[in-house]
Amino acid sequence: MLVVRDLNAGYGRSEVIRGLSLRVDAGEAVAVIGPNGAGKTTLLNAVMGTHAETGGEVQVDGQVLARTTGDRLRAGMALVPERRELFGSLSVLDNLRLGAYLRRHSPSQRLREDIAFVFSLFPVLQERQTQWAQTLSGGEQQMLAIGRALMSQPRLLLLDEPSTGLAPRITLQILQALDRLRTGRGLSLLLVEQNARLALQFTSRAYVLEMGEVALQGPSHELSEDPRVVESYLGSEARHA
Ligand SMILES: Nc1ncnc2c1ncn2[C@@H]1O[C@H](COP(=O)(O)OP(=O)(O)O)[C@@H](O)[C@H]1O
Ligand SMILES: [Mg+2]
Repeated sequence: MLVVRDLNAGYGRSEVIRGLSLRVDAGEAVAVIGPNGAGKTTLLNAVMGTHAETGGEVQVDGQVLARTTGDRLRAGMALVPERRELFGSLSVLDNLRLGAYLRRHSPSQRLREDIAFVFSLFPVLQERQTQWAQTLSGGEQQMLAIGRALMSQPRLLLLDEPSTGLAPRITLQILQALDRLRTGRGLSLLLVEQNARLALQFTSRAYVLEMGEVALQGPSHELSEDPRVVESYLGSEARHA
């Protein structure tokens, strides 16, 4: 459903993403792995339109999208940003409602159903629904960030390092919930992760990003056995797995 073609993006004169192409099919989970500073966050922000690309195009279902976040949200994309960017002194419930901003004219019954759906995915959020977002644990905040993104009813969820700062058990719980959404509802996932082992486990295809370019790509299970990937991305993590 998503096709990115020859994308360029950067900051001022410094090009970070150079001629990058990738695709995510409907119901597919795709990983982007790569070292710190490779351009993963810049890539997701450019795809989402929160940071303008300077060249190339982003298509959803064959339509080239305008370079605005609104257009990309309406095309069915939602981003769970690296820093989560919750509204700390708003309640869990209000953070979820804000995620449905584009659908604010939908019948309130629909919004209640969608909130109930997020609660069914992450029951702890229901228990904490009146608490300020900033009082949640790291894992709960990540669940809320995902829940808020789901409130725009995306068909493609872009996730920027969801495992950052979380205990492995919590990360696993979150990725399993996302996987259920993918298999149950056909949600497509573009998962950016520094934790390559984890990313390759939860996806069927992956791209290795180095210095803003695709260095390697292929089925995740093949990449996880590729000596170059093992040496650069899996070796040092074996200790943490
Ligand atoms: N706001 C910014 N202004 C200038 N340079 C930036 C900005 N954000 C990121 N960069 C630079 O872009 C490169 C890629 O960063 P980033 O996309 O955050 O990589 P990653 O997410 O893979 O760690 C880095 O060299 C970083 O210093
Ligand atoms: Mg990043």
